[in-house]
Amino acid sequence: MKNFLKVLCFSLLVITLFAGYANYGIPQIEPALPPVEEKLELGTMTMEKFIKLGERLYNGKGTCTLCHNPTGGRAPLLASAATVAAERLQDTRYQGKASSVVDYLYESMVEPSAYVVSGFGKAGSNDTESPMPNVAANGIDLSDAELKAIIAYLQDLAGADVTVSIPTDAAPTEAKEETANPPPTPRTALDTPAAIIAKFTCGACHKVADQVGAVGPDLTTIGATRDKAYLRRSLLDPNADAAAGFMAGMMPNIYSEQMSAKELEMLVDYLAGLK
Ligand code: HEC
Ligand code: HEC
Repeated sequence: MKNFLKVLCFSLLVITLFAGYANYGIPQIEPALPPVEEKLELGTMTMEKFIKLGERLYNGKGTCTLCHNPTGGRAPLLASAATVAAERLQDTRYQGKASSVVDYLYESMVEPSAYVVSGFGKAGSNDTESPMPNVAANGIDLSDAELKAIIAYLQDLAGADVTVSIPTDAAPTEAKEETANPPPTPRTALDTPAAIIAKFTCGACHKVADQVGAVGPDLTTIGATRDKAYLRRSLLDPNADAAAGFMAGMMPNIYSEQMSAKELEMLVDYLAGLK
């Protein structure tokens, strides 16, 4: 009986420690949520809501946390981006046209190479070219209002005064339209490789299908060296084989859940054909 109790206590201790480690010890990478179209009701928006909108866009549609996260190390953390901005504007390496913090942050998102944080430039560019995509295009497609909401979020995050203003040029009729929350309809399957690549923002990290991402391997001739089985595994289990010279754990592990089998096969066929 005594031995039994000892074993029991020991087992409980091990389980507790393991559960604690699994919950707190392993850094979690939050995959980007599937882009959800959000209706912007700017006419009735308070600054507090605008900041919250920016936060959601930052963590979701904007794909920002794919790169700006504490685990990847491929992009600077942005917790004080809004306060650092003033220094950037004074820096002799600054190439852009901004004269205020808001303009600097805006420019950072649509013209990332205007200032490249040292150590984070594209390989071989001596920090003159940014690997960050223009997030108003490249399948991420943030609107002007969405970019401003993210700026509000970044200013709030840094504990600075929020000086960006909520745009008011949205059509007022749209803001008032009654849509009574239609039930979510299942997404219709995408029918071209380009649409799949745009929807899943592969181009934020890869050079593929007219996109110019530089965080992951160039995929423009990937079919010459990788077969379909390898490509399929790259998408379903991105950490199975990390391409040489690239950081494992950067590529989101979400496609097995978010892509239909048909989309996956179409994408694999397309990539295998890039020679
Ligand atoms: C594919 C990776 C990637 C994605 C996606 C990305 N960024 Fe970046 N970002 C970078 C890298 C790398 C840098 C550093 C190089 C530079 O300064 O451009 C950077 C720089 C920045 C800077 C300038 C920071 C400074 O201190 O001057 C801001 C602001 C920024 N990103 C905001 C964002 C926001 C907001 C999003 C989402 C809407 C986003 N980024 C999405 C990779 C990314
Ligand atoms: C946040 C950045 C990011 C996004 C988004 C991303 N990838 Fe990747 N991908 C990487 C990185 C980094 C690697 C190299 C490390 C690795 O293999 O895990 C990689 C590796 C790959 C490889 C293997 C290349 C080789 O030579 O081994 C393929 C294929 C690939 N990605 C395709 C895609 C496709 C298709 C999408 C969109 C559905 C996508 N990736 C989205 C960052 C990304």
